[in-house]
Amino acid sequence: KFDGLAETPPMGWNSWNEFGCNVDEDLIKETADAMVESGMKEAGYEYVNIDDCWHGERDEDGNITVDKEKFPSGMKALADYVHSKGLKLGIYSDAGYTTCAGYPGSRGYEYQDAQTYAEWGIDYLKYDWCDTEGLAAEGAYMTMRDALAAAGNPVVFSICEWGTAHPWEWADDVGHAWRISGDIYPCFDCEYKHEGGWSSWGVTKIIDMRKDQEIRQYSGPGHWNDYDMMEVGNGMKAGEDRAHFAMWAMLNSPLIAGNDIRDMSDQTRKILTNEEVIAVNQDPEGVEAWRYTVMDSTGVWVKPLADGDIAVAFLNRSQEDHEINFTWTNHVFGDPHFDYSFDFTETEYLVRDLWSGKNIGSTQKSTRFTVPGHDLNIYRLIKQ
Ligand code: GLA
Repeated sequence: KFDGLAETPPMGWNSWNEFGCNVDEDLIKETADAMVESGMKEAGYEYVNIDDCWHGERDEDGNITVDKEKFPSGMKALADYVHSKGLKLGIYSDAGYTTCAGYPGSRGYEYQDAQTYAEWGIDYLKYDWCDTEGLAAEGAYMTMRDALAAAGNPVVFSICEWGTAHPWEWADDVGHAWRISGDIYPCFDCEYKHEGGWSSWGVTKIIDMRKDQEIRQYSGPGHWNDYDMMEVGNGMKAGEDRAHFAMWAMLNSPLIAGNDIRDMSDQTRKILTNEEVIAVNQDPEGVEAWRYTVMDSTGVWVKPLADGDIAVAFLNRSQEDHEINFTWTNHVFGDPHFDYSFDFTETEYLVRDLWSGKNIGSTQKSTRFTVPGHDLNIYRLIKQ
């Protein structure tokens, strides 16, 4: 949406991936504290988002209430606390009668709920798609968009209907981001089958749901393809976490951490707060990477940046290390959807490794490097 709220992909944290329904006000307050203390806030993470299961029942006037056991001080007090830390508070609802975990959804109460959120001081709404039989997605999301606008408080509106109704084709002025897939799972390439017959997806599986890059041209300032909340720090190997994080940066995904940031390892913190990788995600040009080629098991991804630099990522999907000697001048990176073309025989770039923070060469010469198995190397090519 072109209202200036998400000119770059939203950054923050969400409770679902690590805590599921175990949310309460202590968790949210402690997470807000940890956002500041860990350096996450300074790195750009801003939204503290409560996912499903915060709800109580509707009162006799139809107003949605909080679960008073989990949130005894109420949502307004919690928003005040989060705001006092210089952060913003997000909440979750659903376009249907009930949320995915069975709590009251907003169907039929859109304007009333948006009004309540505004009174509480909510800054971000993730709006899910369970229990929506008979509803058309586009209309349902437009209704909530209009309700939020009528309530008058600026709210980042995050569409969560899993890509089924192709939101990239209609949602650029409806929401600020839209999920393109089912739920993520903390593994590199697995499909996790739930008992109900549905699946959650590993990192590379979600990347593959870009349907051969057919959706990248719809991502840009104000409206982003959302590859789901991150699983960095939730059990994958360090290289897998790195690859996951850097690909979300390359793909302009909202960077919503999904781990327990009150208690994260130094390794996890370093990945999540890597300034130069975050700068790739937050680049004002807002062009989503395309996959330029695949060398054996390693995909080469290219993202043009606003200042004429280029981000290039080598994603190794196999378990084996991959040694590469990349002769830049043998390649022209031509954008399949937009007007970018990078010819290394014409322009020289310095090659900067964003994990080590060191310049390792120039595109005038070949660059020799190893991409470890299930890992990713990311370079910023700095225009000379
Ligand atoms: C759906 C969403 C998830 C999460 C859960 C909550 O599965 O896709 O991201 O919000 O609902 O119940």
